[in-house]
Amino acid sequence: MTLLTTAEEISDIAFGFMGSKALFAALHFGVFTHLAERPMTAEELGQAAGLPAERARTLLTAVASLGLVSVEDGRFANAPAAEAFLVKGAKYDFGDYLRLQVDRQMYGLLDQIEPALANRLPEDATGSYAEWFSDPEQARIYSESQHAGSLGPARGLAKSVDLAGARTLLDVGGGTGAYAITLCKANPDLAATVVDFPNVAALGREYVAEAGLADRVSYVDGNALETDWPAGQDSVLMSYLFSGVPGEEHDRLVRRAYDTLTPGGLYMVHDFVVDADRTGPKLAALWQLQHTAFTPTARSLDEATLADMMTGAGFEGVEVREMIPGLTMLATGRKPG
Ligand SMILES: C[S@@+](CC[C@H](N)C(=O)[O-])C[C@H]1O[C@@H](n2cnc3c(N)ncnc32)[C@H](O)[C@@H]1O
Repeated sequence: MTLLTTAEEISDIAFGFMGSKALFAALHFGVFTHLAERPMTAEELGQAAGLPAERARTLLTAVASLGLVSVEDGRFANAPAAEAFLVKGAKYDFGDYLRLQVDRQMYGLLDQIEPALANRLPEDATGSYAEWFSDPEQARIYSESQHAGSLGPARGLAKSVDLAGARTLLDVGGGTGAYAITLCKANPDLAATVVDFPNVAALGREYVAEAGLADRVSYVDGNALETDWPAGQDSVLMSYLFSGVPGEEHDRLVRRAYDTLTPGGLYMVHDFVVDADRTGPKLAALWQLQHTAFTPTARSLDEATLADMMTGAGFEGVEVREMIPGLTMLATGRKPG
């Protein structure tokens, strides 16, 4: 962590939201997808995106200042990162995740951060995932974006954990099944049960059917903190569950995972987890703050606390390592066999 020394560095943080909005607006108007066809002038881009030329120029200048596009002879072109990650249909495109979940949902929720921190969130504010996803449309926007965003990390997890010999997986808070589907595809003997809220589970069943895995991936509809989980699991995954539940539930979730696992079973926790010395990583710390805006009793979990909880519950060989660079960590441990 570098300590700041100048006013400009503070301004960069303070005005960071303008850069976020420039990126989101460019995504909403398909700027990077249009520029993937060919470099364009502001007039040409305006015509393609349905924007008045002067406003297209203002938006293009803003994203150029951020390094998302280059300018040569009055023509704007995608920077390499924009071309790889923000063009619709590109292999690693996560534009829709940013545009829908982050801009349309998370951005507005962060307005609640002050009352959430001060413990005076109004009655009608979104105060938990359970409340938020009781609205089917909110559950859909969120879950579709999350699914797309989680497929890549799920493929990474499938490569990095040993599920050979495991026949069952319980994916608690598993969303629309990005992980369950990917892990089942990578491990032909594996069958998965996903626990999530009914409006998410309904969408998840569609993804599972589309993947041709309806006979191997099933759903338990409900609040994972209240509902029963199927016993005798060879593996349990909780990906981004801890960050969205009250911190006081963490220990109970770890112990329930232990009780649910068969001897030798593998427990995996993937989430925004910060370093034990609380210096970062920056994006993990900021995502924890973001979750506090709509789950005020969420806790900023650090790697040492997570490892201690798992070891304390009886898990062996507990390891916590980085998963998505600068963003998430993966903790693993086995129930003694
Ligand atoms: C960020 S998404 C992650 C989905 C999936 N695990 C992944 O990594 O792609 C968080 C998920 O946890 C679910 N969730 C949060 N709290 C829950 C609870 N108390 N019971 C069941 N599901 C919960 C949400 O509905 C959502 O699908």
